[in-house]
Amino acid sequence: MIAPKAYSDQSTEDIIKGRKALFSKNYKTAKKVQSLSARGDFDEAKELMNEMSENYEVLLKLFPENSKEGFQTEALPIIWEEKENFDNLMNKASKDMIELVAIIEDADDIRGSIKKFMWSNCKACHTKYREEH
Ligand code: HEC
Repeated sequence: MIAPKAYSDQSTEDIIKGRKALFSKNYKTAKKVQSLSARGDFDEAKELMNEMSENYEVLLKLFPENSKEGFQTEALPIIWEEKENFDNLMNKASKDMIELVAIIEDADDIRGSIKKFMWSNCKACHTKYREEH
């Protein structure tokens, strides 16, 4: 069965806007993770790390075939040509946040650990799969 056009347009809009909102939220959360960890507030930082990890799992489902274009998406078509690799990067980003929860308190280099387990994953994915902005 073919979905009525109005319906599929609506869901495309919801999906693209939804993932943009979630990425923006993760960015804000990431900055909080950084500042909380820097001042040794690990309990709250860890809570937010777990939240980011879960958000990545939601994001994993927000790149269906019908969300390739429109609504000012910065997602590049190559995502769907290499969907498995893209999904792997998203899963890695999610798992690395859990890893960060495990190691952050005893880390010798807090800043370096956050870079390694959080920021580097943003960059690794954006370089290839997100339009220049
Ligand atoms: C596995 C891939 C992947 C990872 C990991 C990832 N991103 Fe993204 N990000 C994307 C893609 C693709 C888009 C474009 C989404 C769109 O416009 O539809 C995006 C968009 C964004 C946006 C713009 C949202 C908007 O309103 O248009 C921000 C901000 C962002 N990401 C921040 C981050 C930060 C910060 C991290 C790491 C903490 C991160 N992303 C990790 C793939 C990723």
